[in-house]
Amino acid sequence: MAETAKAPTMRKINGRALLLLTAVALGGAAQAPASPDTFAPGPGQPQTERACTACHSAALVTGERRTAAQWARLVDRMIANGAQVPDADYPAIVAYLARTYPPSVR
Ligand code: HEC
Repeated sequence: MAETAKAPTMRKINGRALLLLTAVALGGAAQAPASPDTFAPGPGQPQTERACTACHSAALVTGERRTAAQWARLVDRMIANGAQVPDADYPAIVAYLARTYPPSVR
């Protein structure tokens, strides 16, 4: 039964490797393949950088892939953690995250 116990772990690793390869393929040589420590440029980037790097590195965020609804829930959770997100910046931050870090298409 050792084979059966091993199988899910292998699948997970393969899935991650595939994601990494996809990121490299899509990003090309100009972009770091995994979790860059800076937010990719775009509308809403300055507000996101201001709100989301006070407590942890940007890499914690740029490695995530979520839908707009999931990003909104996460930003809400960060606000509960104490993040300073001005009401005026909230939509721009969620839109930026959803546009820049959407769920990977497989
Ligand atoms: C006040 C400090 C603080 C700020 C500012 C902050 N975070 Fe966090 N963040 C945390 C803490 C504490 C954790 C670990 C506990 C948790 O997951 O709630 C965390 C964890 C995370 C994680 C990993 C957890 C997971 O479930 O994936 C992500 C992604 C994240 N933050 C994104 C953001 C984003 C996006 C912003 C900007 C809107 C932000 N954070 C701003 C404190 C903060």
